[in-house]
Amino acid sequence: MTDTPVVLHDAGEGDEPLCNTSANASFGEIVEARLSRRGTLLGGLTAALGAMFVRPAPAAAQGATQGAAQAGSEPMLGFTAVPTSAADRIAVPQGYTARVLTPWGTPITGSLPQFSTRNSGADQAMQIGQHHDGMHFFPIEGRDPYQGSSTDGLLVMNHEYVEPRFLHGARYAGQKLSGSAVVVTDGKRDDDEVAKEINAHGVSVVRIARQADGTWAVQRDQRNRRITGQTPMEIAGPVRGSALVRTKYSPDGTRTRGTLNNCAHGVTPWNTYLTCEENWAGYFRNGATSGDRPALPREQARYGVSTRRGRYGWELAASAADEFVRFDATPSGADATADYRNEPNTFGWVVEVDPFDPESVPVKRTHLGRFAHEGVVFGPAREGRPVVAYSGDDAMFEYIYKFVSARPYSAATANGSLLDEGTLYVAKFNDDGSGEWLALAPGQNGLTEADGFGTLAEILVNTRAAADKVGATKMDRPEWGAVDPRTGEVYFTLTNNTRRAENQVDRANPRAKSQFGHIIRWREANDDHAATRFSWDIFVFAGPERDSRDKAGRALTADSIFACPDGLWFDAAGRLWIQTDIGEREQNKGDLEVFGNNQMLAADPTTGEIRRFLTGPFGQEITGVVTTPDRRTMFINVQHPGATTSADDFAAGKPVSLWPDGEGVPRSATVVITKDDGGIIGT
Ligand code: FEO
Ligand code: CA
Ligand code: CA
Ligand code: CA
Repeated sequence: MTDTPVVLHDAGEGDEPLCNTSANASFGEIVEARLSRRGTLLGGLTAALGAMFVRPAPAAAQGATQGAAQAGSEPMLGFTAVPTSAADRIAVPQGYTARVLTPWGTPITGSLPQFSTRNSGADQAMQIGQHHDGMHFFPIEGRDPYQGSSTDGLLVMNHEYVEPRFLHGARYAGQKLSGSAVVVTDGKRDDDEVAKEINAHGVSVVRIARQADGTWAVQRDQRNRRITGQTPMEIAGPVRGSALVRTKYSPDGTRTRGTLNNCAHGVTPWNTYLTCEENWAGYFRNGATSGDRPALPREQARYGVSTRRGRYGWELAASAADEFVRFDATPSGADATADYRNEPNTFGWVVEVDPFDPESVPVKRTHLGRFAHEGVVFGPAREGRPVVAYSGDDAMFEYIYKFVSARPYSAATANGSLLDEGTLYVAKFNDDGSGEWLALAPGQNGLTEADGFGTLAEILVNTRAAADKVGATKMDRPEWGAVDPRTGEVYFTLTNNTRRAENQVDRANPRAKSQFGHIIRWREANDDHAATRFSWDIFVFAGPERDSRDKAGRALTADSIFACPDGLWFDAAGRLWIQTDIGEREQNKGDLEVFGNNQMLAADPTTGEIRRFLTGPFGQEITGVVTTPDRRTMFINVQHPGATTSADDFAAGKPVSLWPDGEGVPRSATVVITKDDGGIIGT
């Protein structure tokens, strides 16, 4: 037997396949003809809307959090910018210290197996996963994220994907492998390798505490938990029980196994964690054909389910165990409950996890829609008002959505069932700076039974197709969203879209072949997050000094240039943190070389000023950001260090990064940032 390394998927790990080939025009194609000039709306939100909207008092917008109450009494950008970097290290401003915590492989549960690249699949299920992404710190006491313990809590994080060549260590050493390549022998994959890859995905829940010397350490705790690509889950909301999610595993369509490609996250007003399934489609294959052509149902074709092999070839596991063959969605006959043709339909959702209950079964909340969810962010919860959650679909020409609950929020009784009844909307950005939320519901906005949108379940499983139908605005890859705690304005990163042609630009996505990305923001009518109208503008066009503009119309400078905004988060004082993800294939090359390694910046939303706070090592992206309630400890994640390693350099045993250990293999990790004087981060 010979080992034949096979590159199963040649797309960059962070790249999203182009799936929106729908006929509905980019908004730009519609407005181009009647736009007398190619203008862009920049920083005009407050001025333009002065007559329409009344700015709320700062504290009113988020229910008077402790942090927001302090805003105005502290410098928003009180640190010296760090320069762009092309060094294999973390850099933070003078007066700050960054330390590594919870790298991939850190033991947290069970028999606490020590990290080694020789760890088995079972070991991996007791250790921190690979490729850290969205993350939240839940104080061990206190529900409000801005209140409660700042020295002890549950760190909960996503693990977006895996890099088998580093995951399997010696087994893959010396072979010419790119980042997504796996070894296939005689058409089969080793079961334990597949199990390890699946178990390195998902979510980690780990208790951490600050020690007497100021460092943070993992604590043994019965709440420490790994949720993986195999963990049993409930399906809730309108899709529960639908014929579209019935499988051999769950003939009544109420359950599925695992969560995959968990990118960013959300935190509910009732203090649970939401993990978002982003580029899950490529993990599945469906070999169905009609004649000699692939014949995938729309709920798979529109999302990019593979017609050849799954991303890592899990369906090729040698044992052909049920937990692995389910990644092959090819129909076997007439009975959908005899196979896994519907398995991909049980992915693409937002999943709720209660980190404080280790026995809780994660729940897929289907009313938030099915797409490449980047993350989810809530409007401020107010007693007696609906709960509102925003989520972007991160692929080129996809959409921004929001969910508005049918039932009102009540702090005393709120729970995840609030997410099971309501209305899912998709955004349309008009060229005059106004916008509309278009309901995705049977009988509304042209969604009819004749087009296959007769039920909510059909609409939700086919969220993208429904959004195409109602004429939503195709965006430049929506990534994270964040809500300003002082104003209620909603910000979203639009990371890039190199395929947008000149005749496809619109005023919300105004750059053709956008390499650098921008940040859009909007304000809901009457400052009501449940409103169906809004007004928008552009907060910043990212780019080099010659091709960038901040909110005030100024070019970015050496202290603030960045590209491909991805992570986005407001701290309680209203400081906006921006993280970048220049893809592995583009990093440190061509027009993107000037930005150096991926980075994190802070912005003052009032003045538009932006300043670089952190730069990371080679090949990674910076993602995930949260502070303790006192804002004196910040946690960020470094994902996929060394991912830019070429197949030749990998074969030669020379990954471009050995961060953070300086030996062995590069490892994604959390980084803990503190100010040496014990002060608030950013001041
Ligand atoms: Fe997983 Fe869109 O970044
Ligand atoms: Ca990425
Ligand atoms: Ca991301
Ligand atoms: Ca990204």
